[in-house]
Amino acid sequence: MSAMKNLVGWIDDRFPLTANWKAHLSEYYAPKNFNFWYFFGSLALLVLVIQILTGIFLTMNYKPDSTLAFLSVEYIMRDVEWGWLIRYMHSTGASMFFVVVYLHMFRGLIYGSYRKPRELIWIFGMMIYLALMAEAFMGYLLPWGQMSFWGAQVIISLFGAIPFVGDALSLWIRGDFVVSDATLNRFFAFHVIALPLVLVGLVAAHIIALHEVGSNNPEGIEIKKHKDPVTHIPLDGIPFHPYYSVKDIVGVIVFLMVFSAIVFFAPEFGGWFLEPDNFIPANPFKTPEHIVPLWYFTPFYAILRAVPDKFLGVVGMGAGVVIMFFLPWLDRSKVKSIRYRGTLYKAILTVFIISFIGLGYLGTQPPTPGLTMLARVFSVIYFGFFVLMPWYTAIDKTKPVPERIPE
Ligand code: HEM
Repeated sequence: MSAMKNLVGWIDDRFPLTANWKAHLSEYYAPKNFNFWYFFGSLALLVLVIQILTGIFLTMNYKPDSTLAFLSVEYIMRDVEWGWLIRYMHSTGASMFFVVVYLHMFRGLIYGSYRKPRELIWIFGMMIYLALMAEAFMGYLLPWGQMSFWGAQVIISLFGAIPFVGDALSLWIRGDFVVSDATLNRFFAFHVIALPLVLVGLVAAHIIALHEVGSNNPEGIEIKKHKDPVTHIPLDGIPFHPYYSVKDIVGVIVFLMVFSAIVFFAPEFGGWFLEPDNFIPANPFKTPEHIVPLWYFTPFYAILRAVPDKFLGVVGMGAGVVIMFFLPWLDRSKVKSIRYRGTLYKAILTVFIISFIGLGYLGTQPPTPGLTMLARVFSVIYFGFFVLMPWYTAIDKTKPVPERIPE
């Protein structure tokens, strides 16, 4: 034990090890009332690590060459020792990343975690979300299946709808007149190194911002307002370690059970995590019947298709994501948490959730006139939720918030 103490002492004289351990773990005070919804930040970190580790091993056997890419993935699946496991962990990890991140964002929404003083945590979170979408989109091209090719073809040619510069822009993104080997090579570079670096950097910024202001909680009460006069420890706070480190391990174990069940028993997840068309090699001469992105993009894809004009559709799709950045300034409510909001807000939030999930479903379906009409209604509700927020949150009849976290 004393050898350990000596080593730590030696390090502490040269590097703030104990100081950081205390500041961020053993003497970092988090609200005592975290619930289920607070699992997903640490789970997102876990999935990030899984993606990076499995990605490193995939890269060892994958070939970013349009004549070899598809075959190299088949080689990983059939011949590389444990290659199938690495690949299924990575493909399942991609979808589970979005499952976890959507639940994490939803928590922010219901507890008002984006409100002052946590605006920057939210902004960094939204930047992570954007980077994650780019990461997933570019990664999907790499297996060079039918959906890889045609998905990229459709999305990149959307840029062509931008007036004046559109065609030049999509040519520049592709590096060719169609999605080709040049596109595959640059997407590989972005997917494997550029975007992961950006993601890791943003996650660091996200957590630094979080530890600067402290966590929100299901009551939406600021625990820093009531501190012990002598120790200056928040009265409703508990040390992150060991209380929440242990709680988070429970989350990790349950998550890994679900994750393993999918990886081992249903890695394609009925076509939701790996699309059947992507087991066919890319063929530039044969368009698949339905070109559909994976489920995590479909709400925005549905908005795109709901707008009759192509350019305005692209604008709508982009605006659908960008508008979320402004949430901290759109919400004028006196309270943060859903627990103290009024019926008006709760009703509007419910309709919003139904519309978002509805858009996600419609984005997976072939468009018929009826479904397109429905997608238009949901799109209007989606934007209405944000645009009208300053108004309905101001008139919503909120309940009084207690000073301290109730027992
Ligand atoms: C790789 C993705 C992400 C990682 C690793 C991550 C990590 C974390 C962690 C560890 C926490 C603290 C634990 C918790 O509150 O659950 C947290 C809090 C938070 N995150 Fe994220 N996050 C990610 C993405 C996002 C996104 C996309 C958003 C929103 C757009 C977001 C918004 C927030 C907010 C508002 C908080 C504070 C919540 C509160 O105190 O109530 N995060 N994040």
